[in-house]
This record gives sequence, structure tokens and C-alpha cells, in this order.
Amino acid sequence: MGRTLYAIGNWKMYKTSQEALHYLEELAPLLQNGQKGVKAEVCLAVPYTSIRSAAEYGKEIGVKIGAQNMNDAREGAFTGEIAGLMLKEAGAEFVLLGHSERRHLFGEGLPFIHKKVVRALQEGLQPILCVGETLEEREAGREEEVLREQIESALEGISAAEGASLLLAYEPVWAIGTGKPSTPKMAGEAHAFCRKVLEEVWGKKAASQVSILYGGSVKPETVALLLAEKEIDGVLVGGASLDPKTFAEIASHCVKKTAPKPRKNS
Ligand code: PGA
Repeated sequence: MGRTLYAIGNWKMYKTSQEALHYLEELAPLLQNGQKGVKAEVCLAVPYTSIRSAAEYGKEIGVKIGAQNMNDAREGAFTGEIAGLMLKEAGAEFVLLGHSERRHLFGEGLPFIHKKVVRALQEGLQPILCVGETLEEREAGREEEVLREQIESALEGISAAEGASLLLAYEPVWAIGTGKPSTPKMAGEAHAFCRKVLEEVWGKKAASQVSILYGGSVKPETVALLLAEKEIDGVLVGGASLDPKTFAEIASHCVKKTAPKPRKNS
């Protein structure tokens, strides 16, 4: 079985619950047009307050709804935080963890992100682990070291079977929200490296089944070339996902790619 393709929108702190519903109403007919070949799973990571209504509507139109963050505890005295079980009950099916805005703007460190991955799996939420290097780290030739550290620490002590639902998103920090995506070649190399680290942690067979998405200034014009790279299994889209037409166009490109088969020697 090939790896699943994904087109995931990350709305960040945009759209009220009303706006979310209007968006889905607009998105629905656009998604039904001309889907041929391997279909991408279409997903949206929405603000907490939109999860319940968006998830109900999303079920009708085949769009999965998830959250953008969560706390690592099951419950507790953590004012302003949100628990995985609350997200799950509201209808979230997945959760972004370790997004660069969480790491860099809110100071989330490696141990915290690791605990969140563990908790998400315990709560039956699919973790989408976001990793990526800063420009400084890339210029210093440290991107592989940084990616390795982010992946290894997040997955520490988690077996391949326990983590089977996990997706990885490679999002170079310098490409997020800058309008300057990574070149497909550079992204392809980073993805291949991420898979190598996954192989070391979980073995070849399990690693070959993990979908790795690219994120960072993805636009309709750039998505096809990114997806032509064999290790790129979909996209995580921020700014361009805020408009339903643009996001549907991106998702339609994801449909065109044939998912690679897992390696024979695994
Ligand atoms: P962008 O954001 O597409 O606006 O660069 C990507 C992300 O933050 O996931």
C-alpha cells in the first residue's frame, strides 16, 4: 500500500466559528470537482472554537478537522491550556504539534513537544509533528543536526506500532509565511533525511509508511513541483489555505500525484 497523500490547511489564529462554516460551504463544491487518481486526504487545522461545528460539517463533505496545539497533561490546573481529550470530544481527529510558531514564539522546547506527542497518541489523536530548521541553522550547515534532534526527541520511547498514526511535516522556518518556499530539490533532500532518521528510530518498514508533508509558503503554482519529489507526500498550507478557492486548487494538485510504493527491501 502506498503512503497516504495529504492536503492540510493550517488556519492559525484566523476565522471565527461562523467564518469557518462559510468557508466550508464554499469549499464543499470545489472539492467535488474532477477528483481523479490517488486522492489526498483534505484536512484543516482550525482554531479551538471552530472545531465542533467544523467537524460536523467536515464529516458531510469529507474534510477532517483538527487542532493546532494541545497541552501534554490529561487535565489539570493549567489556566488557558487545552487538553487532547477535549479536542477529541469536540471532533478533532488530529493535532499539529511542534509548529515553528509554538517553538519560537511561545518557547516550546523539545521535552514538552515529546510529552505532547505521547499524550496525543494516548488520546487517540493523530499527531502531526512539525520540524524544521531556522535560516541561521541552515546557513551554519546544521539543518540535519536540528531535524535529527527534533525527530528523535519527539519520538523517544514511542514504538513504531504506538506511533503508527503519526505524520511528519517538514517546515523550514525561513519558508513559513515569507512567500519564499524551499526549492523542491532542497525540500526533497530534507524529506529524505527525515525518513532516514525515522528508519533509524522505527526501522525501514514502519518509516516507509509515514507520510511526510512539506510546509512553508505553499501556493497553487508551486505545489505540483514539490509533490513531484518522491519523498513529499503532501503539503501543510498556512496563508494560502485561508481562501477556499486557493486551498481547493492546492488540494486538486495533491490528487494528481501517485503515491510511491513502500520500499521492497523493508
Ligand atoms: P505558510 O505557513 O504556508 O503561510 O508559509 C505554513 C505553516 O505555518 O504551516
